[in-house]
Amino acid sequence: MCGRYSRMHLIALIIIFSLRNHLAMTEPIEGFSKLSKQQKIDWITENFTHNAHASKTLIKRYWNTDSILQQLHDEFIENTITNYYLPFGIAPNFLINDRLYAIPMAIEESSVVAAASRAAKFWFGRGGFKAKVLGTEKIGQVHFMFAGDGHKLRAFFNHVKPILIEDAAPITKKMKARGGGITHIELRDKTAQLPNYYQLHCTFETKDAMGANFINSCLEQFARTLKGEAQRFEDLGDEGKNIEVVMSILSNYVPNCLVRAEVSCPVEELKIDGATAPEEIAHKIVRAVNIAEIEPHRAVTHNKGIMNGIDAVVLATGNDFRAVEAGIHAYACKGGHYTSLTHAEIVNGIFTFSIEIPLALGTVGGLTNLHPLVKLALEILGNPSAPELMQIVAVAGLAQNFAAVSSLVTTGIQEGHMKMHLLNILNQLGATEQEKKEMIQHFKKHTATHNAVVEAFEQLRNP
Ligand code: MEV
Repeated sequence: MCGRYSRMHLIALIIIFSLRNHLAMTEPIEGFSKLSKQQKIDWITENFTHNAHASKTLIKRYWNTDSILQQLHDEFIENTITNYYLPFGIAPNFLINDRLYAIPMAIEESSVVAAASRAAKFWFGRGGFKAKVLGTEKIGQVHFMFAGDGHKLRAFFNHVKPILIEDAAPITKKMKARGGGITHIELRDKTAQLPNYYQLHCTFETKDAMGANFINSCLEQFARTLKGEAQRFEDLGDEGKNIEVVMSILSNYVPNCLVRAEVSCPVEELKIDGATAPEEIAHKIVRAVNIAEIEPHRAVTHNKGIMNGIDAVVLATGNDFRAVEAGIHAYACKGGHYTSLTHAEIVNGIFTFSIEIPLALGTVGGLTNLHPLVKLALEILGNPSAPELMQIVAVAGLAQNFAAVSSLVTTGIQEGHMKMHLLNILNQLGATEQEKKEMIQHFKKHTATHNAVVEAFEQLRNP
């Protein structure tokens, strides 16, 4: 009886708790951003968690003890309540254009740094990576609507173009001194796709800055000038007065901000595992890449492996990985279907593996000047220029893809993956340091699957 009462009691408590949460979630909070950090934490933990330790996790375990550093992080975004850590690892031995790099990577996936390091070491002995920047052009657009005669609009554009540049001079002054600025402004007629729709399609050189703020400021100035001058340009008539600027924003699709990286060696040097002949490996890699070139399902996963390397370096160096992801995937579709970003071939007995990707990166401005770990990551890379960083990032993507594809066509991916994942499983099981050592030894000789690890661990504890 007593047992049943306590069970009912428990059910009632759960219902009250879920109702309370339900109510909390349906009623919006006003002025959340104005609450203190502690008040925000109290509100979120009281209303959205059943976890008695939530507050301790957020504050004691994740706040930085250095209050200045913590404040810096708090101010990066709105409504910060704590920090979110990712492992920051190093993939050494990258020989790129005859210079040796140790590449910092911020990533949670267990096998990525190990795979990059393996590929770096492999190619170190075969001449290393060669990389080249093919272009550094950034793009921004003013999207606007004009209902009048397109020929008159073009005449107006020819008149206004120098004024656009002149009015933006206060914004471009510093960038010009660094060798950058506005490189081209073009009027694009898009009315065939959308009635009355035109663009100012603008290109920029932003040197070592990613340039988002610079470009957007220029574009917003272009929009003001465009509207103002159109009012005064008599030939446009009333339609000129009614030009509607829809938006002014940079484009993350930068197909002319391009970098290429490659590795190559005689086929007979492609000794990856003891079991497979180099010629066979070379052919298998080429075939795997050919599949990714024509088959979108495989291409997406193939490119995801590339992004494992790219995102990790982009993140470690404080760059915008969402912009990079969006731009690279759009580039992978440029021929009309989604395809592989890497290519492989065997010509006259030489195996070549290459990548070509757009990358808009910065090594000055943004987080690069603010975030202490980002600064350190850049220092580890020798404080590269933006074009040099483009080469390093492209190489990280190529190395990652080489490691993944060469494993896939030989041993399979799980062997290496599970070895790296072993520690995660052991940590979940609460293994001691000694137990971890013994399990690592054990799985040098056995295949590590999740079940096999759990079973072996139970055996170890209860022989
Ligand atoms: C896993 O994060 C990445 C891979 O799936 C990439 C690939 O399949 O090429 C291993």
